[in-house]
Amino acid sequence: MMNPFSLEGKTLLITGASSGIGRGIAIECSKMGATMAITGRNEARLKETYDMLEGTNHIMLLADLSKQEEIEKLVANVPALNGCVHSAGIPKICGVKHIDRNLLEDIINVNEVAPILLTSLLLRKKKLQKKSSIVFISSISGVCVANIGEAPYASTKGAISGFVKTAAYELAAQGTRVNSINPGLVPTRILELSNTVFSEDQLKETMYDRYPLKRVGKPEDIAYGAIYLLSDASSWVTGINLVIDGGYILA
Ligand SMILES: NC(=O)c1ccc[n+]([C@@H]2O[C@H](COP(=O)([O-])OP(=O)(O)OC[C@H]3O[C@@H](n4cnc5c(N)ncnc54)[C@H](OP(=O)(O)O)[C@@H]3O)[C@@H](O)[C@H]2O)c1
Repeated sequence: MMNPFSLEGKTLLITGASSGIGRGIAIECSKMGATMAITGRNEARLKETYDMLEGTNHIMLLADLSKQEEIEKLVANVPALNGCVHSAGIPKICGVKHIDRNLLEDIINVNEVAPILLTSLLLRKKKLQKKSSIVFISSISGVCVANIGEAPYASTKGAISGFVKTAAYELAAQGTRVNSINPGLVPTRILELSNTVFSEDQLKETMYDRYPLKRVGKPEDIAYGAIYLLSDASSWVTGINLVIDGGYILA
């Protein structure tokens, strides 16, 4: 019987695949039969992901997406794709009155400019085949909720929502779908990078209490949503924010 959630025969590009959510998406998509093109900056961690993929014919491509020439090189080297997941992203914790130009430009460059320019170039160079699916890993922060100190980060995720809506409308004519996933807290390296390290006890006492489903997220929780959006099961779905957050925004 045909499985509409299968990714057999699809080739997918995943950014941020050297860590966390992007790594989880790459692994789970390979288990669903996809051929993966995975990218990140850190070679050793990207290779770890590569070694965890199921199946054969996967490729890994190093790229610092904050640099235009590396985006161009990446696009030149990717094979024809049926989908792309933009998971690369960075945090910046900073109170509103302390935001400066460098901090803002750094985070906008990686979280907003890079995925938008990569999408645009993939389309221009005809690397995304007909009926492709493009997925942005956004956040509940800046789209559904506000957290103190996250204004620069939230501004980039809000911008991605705006882009997703318009791109989805514009690209629907060629059958290309554009959606975002908006995760709640998934403990990954991003927490270390934002100096938001929770002890197990803190996670239990504070975070878990704020999640109606009584746990924080795992990369697989987000990966299963990505599989849906990349597969033919979602062929009538475009322009949405798919919130995957254990019910956090309800509380
Ligand atoms: N974890 C959460 O709680 C959470 C919640 C909501 C949304 N998100 C979003 O989910 C996405 C993935 O986050 P994560 O939790 O998986 O974080 P992570 O574990 O820190 O992974 C971030 C990934 O982004 C890549 N990256 C960062 N800067 C890059 C650059 N200049 N060029 C290329 N790649 C770059 C990193 O590559 P290298 O390691 O190779 O440098 C890494 O693979 C992000 O967009 C984040 O905003 C996360």
